Amino acid sequence: MSFKEKINKTKLPEHVAIIMDGNGRWAKGIGKLRIFGHQSGVGAVREAMEGCVDLGIRYLTLYAFSSENWSRPKLEVQALMELLVNTLAKETQTFIKNGVRLNTIGNISDLPKRCQEKLLEIIDLTKNNNTCILTLALSYGSRMEIVESTKSICAQVLAGTLNLEDINEKTISKNLETNDLPDPDLMIRTSGEQRISNFLLYQLAYTELCFLPIMWPEFVREHLFEAVYNYQSRERRFGKTS
Ligand code: FPP
Repeated sequence: MSFKEKINKTKLPEHVAIIMDGNGRWAKGIGKLRIFGHQSGVGAVREAMEGCVDLGIRYLTLYAFSSENWSRPKLEVQALMELLVNTLAKETQTFIKNGVRLNTIGNISDLPKRCQEKLLEIIDLTKNNNTCILTLALSYGSRMEIVESTKSICAQVLAGTLNLEDINEKTISKNLETNDLPDPDLMIRTSGEQRISNFLLYQLAYTELCFLPIMWPEFVREHLFEAVYNYQSRERRFGKTS
């Protein structure tokens, strides 16, 4: 029986987040340049997206470029931005066919103009799709997101539109860039590294974590199905007893 057949369709995670890691190491391992690893990672993005659509997972969030990734060699950054634009252009029909709505978090204004324009174009084109919401985290860093959220809350208090006593966990969630997304139920990271790397720190508080010992270009939908199957065997207690 395949993992897909074993999955309980009534207990699906609503939101899966993925740290796509290991492109560079995978490429190096076969004697190629790092960018070849990123290019090969595009197929894995499609696998993850179509796997979510196939299962009926409503939200998929991918860590595509962190705010720290800007300090990589200039050529690699340029190649990644180029790859983003080309992939969005090429995969437009895949988004439409699968009913995928594109969304972003992160400082999109840091990206080259043509990336911003392409993102806006596809976001607009897919705005009425509702099968799966694909969020790309681009120039994203969770600590900075929390800093910005804090500033916004302080500004509301200073303006008199929010009482200090009324600030609670929901206030923070509502002031994060992910305010229109549920917290992830399952977070997958490839490459065998077991860390969060400044990704959705507040939102992952009770998320089940799954670390896969494969590199991102090797990721296929079967890995998603296996991770979802394993997720379903866990008891989520949210700090309470069973
Ligand atoms: C991490 O691998 C991966 C990235 C920083 C970029 C992810 C980009 C893609 C999968 C391709 C395009 C994406 C979209 C959404 C079109 P790494 O380079 O850190 O690998 P390493 O840890 O082995 O060096």
